[in-house]
Amino acid sequence: MKQRNNLLENLVNQPLQMKNKGLFITCEGGEGSGKTTLIHHLEQAFIERGDSVVKTREPGGTKLGDQVRNLLLHSQQPLDSYAELMLFLGARAQHIHEVIKPALLAGKVVLCDRFNDSTVAYQGIARGLGKEMVQDLCTLVCQGTLPDLTFFLDIDPKQGLKRAQARNQQQSSTMDRIEIERLEFHQKVLQGLRAIAQESPERVCILDATQSIESVFSTAWNVIAKRPS
Ligand code: TYD
Repeated sequence: MKQRNNLLENLVNQPLQMKNKGLFITCEGGEGSGKTTLIHHLEQAFIERGDSVVKTREPGGTKLGDQVRNLLLHSQQPLDSYAELMLFLGARAQHIHEVIKPALLAGKVVLCDRFNDSTVAYQGIARGLGKEMVQDLCTLVCQGTLPDLTFFLDIDPKQGLKRAQARNQQQSSTMDRIEIERLEFHQKVLQGLRAIAQESPERVCILDATQSIESVFSTAWNVIAKRPS
C-alpha cells in the first residue's frame, strides 16, 4: 500500500502546470447556491466585453460526460462511493481533453459550473473518502489544466436546499440522488468548501450567496476586472 501511495505521489508531483492562454473560471457551492445564475450573468458580461466564452458544467460538457451525469444523478442502483468518485473523475478527464484545454489554448474564457473543489468536498469530505487522496487524484486527472479563479458561493444548506426544491418544483423535476442526501451530508460539503477556500485564498473568492444576484454578480465582476490581463 505504501508503495502505491508513493506511486500516486510521484505522478501527482510531476511538473504539470500548463500555462493557459485563456482564462479558466470555476463556480462552486452547495445545492441552490446560485452558481448557474452567476455563470449566466458572467457569460453575458464577458461577451459584452468582446471575449470568446465557453460555458460548461460538471458532470457533463461532453457526450460521455452527459451520460455519466445521468448515471450519477439518476441511477436507481446504489452506487459505491469509490465508483461514484471514479465516474466524476472519468467525466472530468474527457471534459478537459475535449472541451476545456482546447478552449484555453485558443485563448477563450471557460466558465465551468463545478470542478475539483466539488469532488474534494462531496466525495473526499462528505462521503469520507479522504480529502488528500481525492485532491491528489484530481491533480492527476487535470494534468495541469487547473482553474485560474474560483467563485465559491457560500450559503447555509438549509436555505440552499429550499431554493433547490423551489427550482425543482418550478421545472417539474424531482430532487436528484445527491440532493436527497441528509442535511448533515450537505453541511459537511459546506465545511469542506469553506476549508478549501481558506487554504487557497489566491485562487478562491468567497461570495455571500444570500445576497441579491445583482450584488453577487457585481462583486464577482469587480474581481475579474481587477485581474491583470
Ligand atoms: P447539478 O444539478 O449540477 O447540481 P447543482 O445545480 O447544485 O450544481 O448536480 C451536480 C451534483 O453532483 C451536485 O449535487 C454536486 C455533485 N457533484 C459531486 O458530488 N462531485 C463532483 O465532483 C461534482 C462535479 C458534482
